Amino acid sequence: MDFSKITELAGAQLMAVEMELANSLCSEIPTVNELVLSTIKSGGKRIRPLVLTISAGMCGYFGDLIPKVGVILEYIHTSSLLHDDVIDGATSRRGKPSANAIHGNNITVLSGDYLYATAFNNLAKLDDRDHAIVVSRAVAAMSEGEIFQMLKTGDISLSMEDYLKIIYGKTSALFAAACECGAIMAGMDADKRKALHDYGCHVGYAFQLQDDILDYFGEESVIGKKPGTDLAEKKVTLPIMLLLQELEGAEREEAIEAFLSVQLSEIMQLLVKHDIQRKSTAVVQMHIENALFLLNNFPDSQYKEALVAITYELSRRKS
Ligand code: IPE
Ligand code: IPE
Ligand code: MG
Ligand code: MG
Repeated sequence: MDFSKITELAGAQLMAVEMELANSLCSEIPTVNELVLSTIKSGGKRIRPLVLTISAGMCGYFGDLIPKVGVILEYIHTSSLLHDDVIDGATSRRGKPSANAIHGNNITVLSGDYLYATAFNNLAKLDDRDHAIVVSRAVAAMSEGEIFQMLKTGDISLSMEDYLKIIYGKTSALFAAACECGAIMAGMDADKRKALHDYGCHVGYAFQLQDDILDYFGEESVIGKKPGTDLAEKKVTLPIMLLLQELEGAEREEAIEAFLSVQLSEIMQLLVKHDIQRKSTAVVQMHIENALFLLNNFPDSQYKEALVAITYELSRRKS
């Protein structure tokens, strides 16, 4: 399925999300509106509202809960990026100076809080218990993921299990919630809800793993943020884990030393020498396959085809 078909299926709902995103923001403090609005309008891909729209469509729901929940998800995602850029000391986001680089950390953190509160205000207005539980659980997991990642900084013995726990919180939880909300609004049973939740979870893993790969192998002009930041912060991510698995003896010790002393060129040489980009991409593919397998729980439709196409596209993304 090509991109124009996906736009045809989701375009109207995504347009409604776009209109609504600006409408619910009305702080009396101009700086808050300016920071939040300029971040929201700075070119995000709107992937969470997209997977929500297509998931709901695959379950037979096309109503106006889609843009309402889509806006909530995008507010939450944006808040998490504001906080994340403060935590990571990032200077750019979406190819532009990050909010913290312009307004400083304090105002950025509090604007992120303002946006979370706006998301929860909208969620309360839905007056729907299932949506409230699923979305608020995801937000709790997101905070846990970032905190757990911080606690594991510089830990070269990080296990794959703990790494997946981190990226579940950081990224999978919100993708899973987006997909599950599609099933909830369509009134699906618990099995279908779980299938879409788990599908979103694997898409989220693949998405964050790809992000972690791009942090070493991506182009700054394409990813819109500085590569090498994970190493700069001594975050152990998939490429480093796979590299350390490959090495032993003195070479392993040298790699650990290069990692802990943030020697990007040495680490890059080792990653290239040991073919880590290809090996990392194979892990992304595994999660893509797990995600696609879960879609077998749903009858064939154009929406399912679109979800399959989006799933493949996310695994190949360069930005
Ligand atoms: C960035 O998410 C943060 C991660 C989970 C890796 P997106 O790549 O969806 O960000 P935008 O909204 O398109 O900038
Ligand atoms: C992604 O974290 C942000 C969230 C999921 C909250 P990272 O720090 O890994 O991603 P980027 O590279 O800043 O987007
Ligand atoms: Mg970051
Ligand atoms: Mg981060």
